[in-house]
Amino acid sequence: MVEETGKEAKRPSLRRAQPQPMDVVEIGEMPRIVTGGAELDRLMGGGIMRGSIALVAGDPGIGKSTLMTELGRYVDPLTVLYVTGEESPRQVKLRAQRLGAATANVLLLAETDTAHILDAAEDTAPDVVIIDSIQTMYHPDVQGAAGSVSQIRECAAVLMRAAKAMNAAVFLVGHVTKTGSIAGPRVLEHLVDTVLYFEGDRHHGYRVLRAVKNRFGSTNEIGVFEMTGTGLREVSNPSEIFLAERQAGLSGSSVICSVEGTRPVLVEVQALVTPTSYGTPQRAATGIDPRRLQLLLAVLEKREGLSLGGHDVFLNVAGGVRLDEPAADLGVAASIASSLHDLAMAAENVLIGEIGLGGEVRGVSKLELRLRESEKMGFTRAIVPKISLQGLVPVPGIKIHAIESVSELLGLLG
Ligand code: TYD
Ligand code: MG
Repeated sequence: MVEETGKEAKRPSLRRAQPQPMDVVEIGEMPRIVTGGAELDRLMGGGIMRGSIALVAGDPGIGKSTLMTELGRYVDPLTVLYVTGEESPRQVKLRAQRLGAATANVLLLAETDTAHILDAAEDTAPDVVIIDSIQTMYHPDVQGAAGSVSQIRECAAVLMRAAKAMNAAVFLVGHVTKTGSIAGPRVLEHLVDTVLYFEGDRHHGYRVLRAVKNRFGSTNEIGVFEMTGTGLREVSNPSEIFLAERQAGLSGSSVICSVEGTRPVLVEVQALVTPTSYGTPQRAATGIDPRRLQLLLAVLEKREGLSLGGHDVFLNVAGGVRLDEPAADLGVAASIASSLHDLAMAAENVLIGEIGLGGEVRGVSKLELRLRESEKMGFTRAIVPKISLQGLVPVPGIKIHAIESVSELLGLLG
C-alpha cells in the first residue's frame, strides 16, 4: 500500500513531459532576428534566435564590447538592454557615439546583481539583452565572489531561463585569460546555445569571430572584421586581406585554401628555416597547432630525408588567422621545404591537401568550393590530392595538378 501511494505521489512529475512521436512535435515558427550585420547573422546561422543565449568570448581588449555596442545599432528599432558591469554608462555612451551607435533603442544599465537585472528586463521587455561581462555579475543567493565558477554558472542559468521566458536573445560577454579555463567562460560552453570566440592578435587590425558551437547553425563558421578608428568593419572577402601583403616568388611562402564552416578562405603560410646556432632546435608556430607542425616536420625528415634536426623552424599564418583544418598540411610542408632549400613555390599555385604519416597526400572535403575561391582570387593552378578528383566538377580557369605523395609536392619547388 505504502508503495502504491509512493508511486501515485511521483506520477504528476513524470507526466510533465510526455514522450511524443517525432512527427507530431511542433517546431513552431523559428523566431530569428535578422540584424543586418551580415557577418554576425551568418555566424549565428542566419540571424539571432529569440529565446537563446550566446557567449561571446575572447581576450580582454579584443573587441567584444565594441561588437556588442554595434549590435545595438544593427537591431534598431528593437529594444536592447545593455547591462554593463565594467564600464559606466558614460563610457559605454562615449564608445557608442564613436561607433555611430548611440541609438535610442539601447537602454543602458550599470548593474551587477542578476536579481536587479531581471527586474529591469521585466520592466522594459527587451528583445536583446547584453551582459558585459558575465564575470562581473553575481547572484545574491549564491556564495562566492563575482567571477567564481559557482557565480558564473548560476548567473548564466538564471539569465537563460529569463531569455526563454521573455523570448529575448541574451548575449553574455566573457573574458578568457591567456592561461585558459579557471573560472573563465569555458564553464559555460555546455550551457549556452552558441559560443562565439574572438580571435586574432590585438596587434593586428583583423579580428576573426568563430562560432565554435551553434545549436542553430553550422559550427566553425567565421566572420572577419577589421578594427578601425570607428569600430569593427565587416570584411566580406577575407581572402583578399589575408593575401594582401604577399610577395610572390619568395621562398618559404605558399598559399592554401582552408574551409571555415561554409566559407573558403585563402591564406598565406610562411616558414623560416635557419641553421640552429647552438642547443636544441627551436620550433615555433603561430596560427597552427604546434603539434601538427612537429608531426609534419617528422614526416619530412623520415619520408623525404630533409635534415631539419639542425634547423630552427618558425611558422606563421599571415594576418593573425588560426587554421585548424588538416587541408593546410600541403602548404605548411611546402613552405618549410621551400625555405630550407631556398626554392620558391610558383605564385600561381594554391595548395590543398592533408598529409598522412606515411607521406601520402590525403583527400579533402569541399574541393570544388576551394577551387572556385582560388580562381576568384586569381590563382591558375591547384595542387590537390589525387584521391579527391573523383566526381570533381572542373572549375574553368584552374588547372589541376593532382599528387599522391609529399615527394611529388617537393618536386614542384624551384
Ligand atoms: P573592446 O571592445 O573594449 O574590448 P573587450 O570588450 O573585448 O575587452 O575593444 C578594445 C580595443 O579596441 C581597444 O584597445 C580600442 C580598440 N578600439 C578601436 O580601435 N576602435 C574603436 O572604434 C573601438 C570602440 C575600440
Ligand atoms: Mg569590454
